[in-house]
Amino acid sequence: MGGKSLWPAFWSKVGAVGFRTKIMGIVAIFILFSTLGLVGYIYRDFPASLRSQLQEQGIAIGTGLAAQGRDLILTHNQFALYKLVKDTRDASKDIAYAFVLDAEGNVLVHTFDGGFPTDLLGINQVQPEEAYRVQALQTEDDKIQDVAVPILGGKAGVVRLGMSEANIDAAVTGYIGHILPWVALILVLGLCVAYGFASILTKPISQLAEAARAVGRGDFRWKSPIWAKDEIGSLGIAFSEMSEELKRKERMRAQLLAKVIGAQEEERKRIARELHDETSQSLTSLMVGLKLIEDSADAVSVKEKTAELRALAARTLDEVHHLATELRSSLLGDMGLVVAIQRYTKEYSAKMNINVDTHVSGVSELRLPSEVEIAAFRIIQEALTNVAKYAEAKNVSVVLRHRESSLVAVIEDDGKGFDVNGIMASPNEKKLGLFGMYERASLIGGKLSIESQTGAGTSIFLEVPLKSTQEVMNG
Ligand SMILES: Nc1ncnc2c1ncn2[C@@H]1O[C@H](COP(=O)(O)OP(=O)(O)OP(=O)(O)O)[C@@H](O)[C@H]1O
Ligand SMILES: [Mg+2]
Repeated sequence: MGGKSLWPAFWSKVGAVGFRTKIMGIVAIFILFSTLGLVGYIYRDFPASLRSQLQEQGIAIGTGLAAQGRDLILTHNQFALYKLVKDTRDASKDIAYAFVLDAEGNVLVHTFDGGFPTDLLGINQVQPEEAYRVQALQTEDDKIQDVAVPILGGKAGVVRLGMSEANIDAAVTGYIGHILPWVALILVLGLCVAYGFASILTKPISQLAEAARAVGRGDFRWKSPIWAKDEIGSLGIAFSEMSEELKRKERMRAQLLAKVIGAQEEERKRIARELHDETSQSLTSLMVGLKLIEDSADAVSVKEKTAELRALAARTLDEVHHLATELRSSLLGDMGLVVAIQRYTKEYSAKMNINVDTHVSGVSELRLPSEVEIAAFRIIQEALTNVAKYAEAKNVSVVLRHRESSLVAVIEDDGKGFDVNGIMASPNEKKLGLFGMYERASLIGGKLSIESQTGAGTSIFLEVPLKSTQEVMNG
């Protein structure tokens, strides 16, 4: 539980630092832990191996001393024996003391300046059958490995050496003192290398982030520099492609919008023309007629004129009414998708001389949301217009099907077909019609796909998910 609440707090801090800092932190931690491991090893295992070396050395020196001292003992040459023992001790700073006992255990010679510590006689007593014996001692200010080597199997006495461990600690400390500068050097080098690597990694990522912001603002100029053929490189390439695609779509959308606005403009001009040519004309006639009545004194002609003008007013009213109905009900307005499609395909077939098969199922009795009807109608209309313009087809079938929760439309021709991907991908090709179909489908949450093969006709599928029939009926 504690871990769960601790982790987000930890990550909110660590996650906030830069990628470069993270990599350098990891490298530093790695180097420091390795160093700690190395130092731990040196403290634990290095002294043990030095200690066993010290013992070996003690045994070798003790054995040599026993061999050299044997004759001196047998000939009772105490002075030469003393000199031998003292010279041996002086030759190595690891030897704390040395002494020789005779067969009865009496001290013959020793190297202690302030008198012989008799405690030493009681310990490390080597048996005659042993080649040597080693025992660790703890004195007031030193650790000693005491080595005992019998002379002539103990019959001539025993050589004892005290090997001091004082130098081991100094050696270990000195060794670590040697390592630390290297660790510092490795740390600095490691951090430099990590900094370099992290820069190589983070630079393109920061550039990508910058580019993503630019694309978000609608600035599509960014091109991926070729960094390397690695994951970041391919991310950059994918990003460039995406930006290129967005740019294309954006341009298309702008053209489409211009087309829609153009169409609106056309429509307004048409209405203006209609109002000007028909309605204004009639109203002008009406005004002229009224002026004539005003000027006329004769009651009979007033009556006649009034009847004429009434007829003109009625005609004008009809015209205005006609214009209004035409404006209100586009082909789809009142009759619904199915009737509109059936009427359109009938006219189309007659005009274009192409045989059209229209199949409708499950749609006729209900009205769909108007935006779905409009989109479906326009998509079918564009598809049929393209068939007439390019396909050189004899037959085309239009299927409109409504199932449970979706509307499906399929327009299939037996014409010459075309390379859909080629046209959609080429920057120069005119394809606003196709693009508009995709756009309309996606605007109402539907999916459009076009399948075509050169020489084998074209099929266009539209699928629009709908609310359930019940929901549609309820509103
Ligand atoms: N049914 C089809 N059979 C054969 N070729 C087709 C068919 N539909 C479209 N094409 C090809 O696809 C191209 C693009 O069609 P699209 O409808 O996007 O543009 P358009 O009809 O030339 O112009 P617009 O529709 O904007 O007036 C056409 O130029 C044509 O080559
Ligand atoms: Mg077209």
